Amino acid sequence: MQIFIDTADINEIRDLNETGLIDGVTTNPSLAASQGIQFTDLIRQICDIVDGPISAEVIALDAAGMIEQGKKLAGIHENVVIKVPLTVDGLKACYALAEDDIAVNVTLCFSAPQALLAAKAGARYISPFVGRLDDQGWDGMQLIRDIQLVYDNYMFDTEILAASIRHPQHVLEAAKAGADVCTIPPKVFRQLYKHNLTDIGLDAFMADWKKSGLSI
Ligand code: G3P
Repeated sequence: MQIFIDTADINEIRDLNETGLIDGVTTNPSLAASQGIQFTDLIRQICDIVDGPISAEVIALDAAGMIEQGKKLAGIHENVVIKVPLTVDGLKACYALAEDDIAVNVTLCFSAPQALLAAKAGARYISPFVGRLDDQGWDGMQLIRDIQLVYDNYMFDTEILAASIRHPQHVLEAAKAGADVCTIPPKVFRQLYKHNLTDIGLDAFMADWKKSGLSI
C-alpha cells in the first residue's frame, strides 16, 4: 500500500519525507487555506520536496471552471494530480482532464455507485472518506471493500485512495481491504511507528548495555 501524507504543511511534509516512507501528498482547500501561502506556490513547494503524486484541488464548481483550473494546476509540475469533487460537474471535468492525459483524483466519495462513475470517467484515484462516514454512524471501511469488489469485477485501474483517516486502525483496515493508497495526516503517521513497548524495550536494552561496558 502506498502512503500519502494528508497535509499542506510544508514543514511537516519536509520532516516526514525524510523517513523515505512517503509516496505522495494530498491537499484539500481547507488544508491549503490554513497555510497562508499562494496556492500555486504551495503546490510547487510540495512538488519540490516529495517525488510522487501531489493532489491539488480545484475550487470551481462548474465543469468548465474545473477544467480550466485543473489545466493550470497540472502545468505546475508533472506530478500534480487534479482533485475534483464527486459531483456531475466533477465527473465531466474528470472525463475531460483524463482525455487530456491529466491525472485526476475524484474526492468526497461516500458511496460505491459514486466510485463506479468516477472510474468510468477515467479517474486515476478515487478518494472515499472513511472517517467522515464513521462520524455519521456508517462503516467507512466497508465502503473501501465495496469499491474494491466493484473495481475488481470490471478490472478498472482507478486506484482506491483511502482518505479521512483518523487513527492507525483505519490504516490497518485499509491495508487489509487492499486499498492502493492510504492518505494519512501527520499525527496519525507518527502514531504508526510509536509503541510504548518499543520504548520500554529499548530503554531496557540500553540500560543493560551501559552496565556491561561493551562497545561496538
Ligand atoms: O483530504 C481529504 C480527507 O483526507 C479529509 O479528511 O479528516 O477532514 O475528514 P478529514
